[in-house]
Amino acid sequence: MRRPKCDAAHVRANLPSVPGPIVIIGAGQAGVQIAESLRHDKYDGSIALLGAEAHGPYNRPPLSKKWLLEGGNPAALAIRTLEVLERRKIELHTNVAVTQIDRAAQVVRCADGRQFPYGGLALATGARLRSLPVPGAGLSGVLGLRTLEDAQHIAAALDDCVATSAPLVVIGGGFIGLEVAAAARKRGVAVTVLEGLERLMSRVVAPIVSTAAAQLHRSHGVELVFNARVTELVGGGEGENRSVHAVRMADGREYRAGCVVVGIGVDPEDTLAQAAGLECDRGVIVDDCARSSDLRIVAAGDCCARRQRDGTLLRLESVQNAVEQGMSAAAALLGQERPMKAAPWFWSDQYDARLQMVGLSQGYDEVVTRGEVAQLAFSAFYYRSGRLLAVDSLNNVPMHMLGRRLLDRGVSPTPAQAADANFNLQGLLAA
Ligand code: NAI
Repeated sequence: MRRPKCDAAHVRANLPSVPGPIVIIGAGQAGVQIAESLRHDKYDGSIALLGAEAHGPYNRPPLSKKWLLEGGNPAALAIRTLEVLERRKIELHTNVAVTQIDRAAQVVRCADGRQFPYGGLALATGARLRSLPVPGAGLSGVLGLRTLEDAQHIAAALDDCVATSAPLVVIGGGFIGLEVAAAARKRGVAVTVLEGLERLMSRVVAPIVSTAAAQLHRSHGVELVFNARVTELVGGGEGENRSVHAVRMADGREYRAGCVVVGIGVDPEDTLAQAAGLECDRGVIVDDCARSSDLRIVAAGDCCARRQRDGTLLRLESVQNAVEQGMSAAAALLGQERPMKAAPWFWSDQYDARLQMVGLSQGYDEVVTRGEVAQLAFSAFYYRSGRLLAVDSLNNVPMHMLGRRLLDRGVSPTPAQAADANFNLQGLLAA
């Protein structure tokens, strides 16, 4: 299998000096970043930004947080206004369903017959929600959260729950599930979270942080159920009005539900790339420079699986990843090399608590904490063979910022130094 290369000389030798026109499929965070970075990097050819949604590029993070509580004008979510895109000569096309990437003809074809020829192509197609493979998953009142419309549906369903004193059942104790649970509790809705594994957010955080998150949610009255096996969503009513009213478990328990939010993760949207014969493995495989197995095609954001030096694939679902990789992708289209370097970081707001993570803790063999674990104001430092891998911080913003600087600069305090509240970690950076 051919490995994508991240080698500027190789790239320059294989790309025309001006690769236009450039077509970007996907008008989310990564797509808009690619377009803007192209302009920033002095590309003055044509840029077509193709989005499947009806809206221009908008911020998704508030959808599971403030938006569920306060709603508001969708225009306030815009990453860039249409005027700004126009001024930068970024040609936005909304409601576009791309059906094919024809690599031989170098053209992108759409369902409505439109065609977009390209010299350079960027994929920023994001990710799609996993659906729950049980009977009743298609009932009305069973909701997922990815788009603005999804958030509006959940907000309306929470209004109904408030009006009828009906409970919300959340399936999945990850970021989406817990942020929605927090918003629902703030609105006074009774909430049960059914998590398939033995702890919360286990994909990303270590047990000590999961335990703190569980304490936080229980203190706000959320019922948490672990190792949950949902077997059926039970509906009531007739025909089109059939809507969910309970969640049935393998052990026979049933949870009454006015509505159900399913947040069991996402899968990279790589269907077009696969059909076009690009190297994919649950995501478009790219190198550190965001280059796919076709030198004219780059990819960035949630749709990617980044090949690391040891050959393993890294899939990151975050705003920062979309932005950084978007910059790399734009540079790569212009024959330049801008490998991704910064430590990955993520955040989640639940109630008034802020959880921030930097680095990747997988494979750690030691964790030390700094701060007040019982007060839910602390940081967890993860190590492998004595080297710092990651820092998770709960209600400890300064330590998160310091963790970012430590990891970006490759500075590793010893576990004893990290755990010692009197040790000046900042001083290590000065040295
Ligand atoms: P996730 O991967 O964070 O969490 C999914 C959870 O569902 C996991 O805990 C998993 O064990 C559980 N699960 C899987 N199958 C299950 C089943 N059948 N029954 C019960 N539990 C099951 O994904 P999530 O929360 O859906 O988020 C989707 C995407 O949105 C992710 O990319 C996430 O990073 C992103 N996001 C990021 C936020 C942030 O950074 N603050 C906020 C919200 C979403």
